[in-house]
Amino acid sequence: MEIIKCKSYRDLSLQVGIDIEYQVSRNSKLVLGLATGSTPKGVYEYLKSSTVDFSEVRTFNLDEYVGLEPEFNSRLKGKKGYGVPKHKQSYYYFMNEHLFNEVKFKRSFFPGESQSDTYDSLIDACGGIDIQILGIGTNGHIAFNEPGTSRDSLTHVVDLTENTIKDNSRFFDSIDEVPKQATTMGIESIMRAKQIYLLANGKHKKDILEKACYGDITSDIPASYLQEHKNIKVLYCD
Ligand code: PGA
Repeated sequence: MEIIKCKSYRDLSLQVGIDIEYQVSRNSKLVLGLATGSTPKGVYEYLKSSTVDFSEVRTFNLDEYVGLEPEFNSRLKGKKGYGVPKHKQSYYYFMNEHLFNEVKFKRSFFPGESQSDTYDSLIDACGGIDIQILGIGTNGHIAFNEPGTSRDSLTHVVDLTENTIKDNSRFFDSIDEVPKQATTMGIESIMRAKQIYLLANGKHKKDILEKACYGDITSDIPASYLQEHKNIKVLYCD
């Protein structure tokens, strides 16, 4: 693991954004693994200002709520209205708001739009993920891989805990509207990426990041599996 302390969130976002831009300029058919959450927003902001052509780049998101998957109309491919988010809290809506409305990619995939067990095959068929962006939860989760997830997990459906459902209910009109499940890339799916950026912004992530990077490799802290990845950079800032 290469661990880099950044001066600021802006610095962190620029380092990752510039590298993605550089790699796309060398390989226009790059495959990106994308994450939602507050941490990658700065990277997406940078990419929105890029003059590099992303139109041959394909993207795979880490996770999506079950029932809120985007709908794609293949007849409108490349045109307005091609992908329709089902809900403002869907991760597809988030990606539209923070990236896709301004940066045009060849195609963007979300787990759950096909059977979860074919998502990994779809990634393989596209040549695998070249660069995977990851955030980390304060309990050490990566994507929806909560503590206890096995190292060899592929894309799968997870039941959200009562806690997560309660926490997320503030974003919905009522708690009954909160999805009870999500589809997530598994640990093995993530480990197959050729390069990984693990990003952490803020003091509240410091403890867990230290455990993930320097502690035992354990399913109690799913991010600790990343220690075994051959090409991973961890960028963090206070
Ligand atoms: P955050 O979420 O980027 O909003 O901190 C990260 C995560 O929980 O995976």
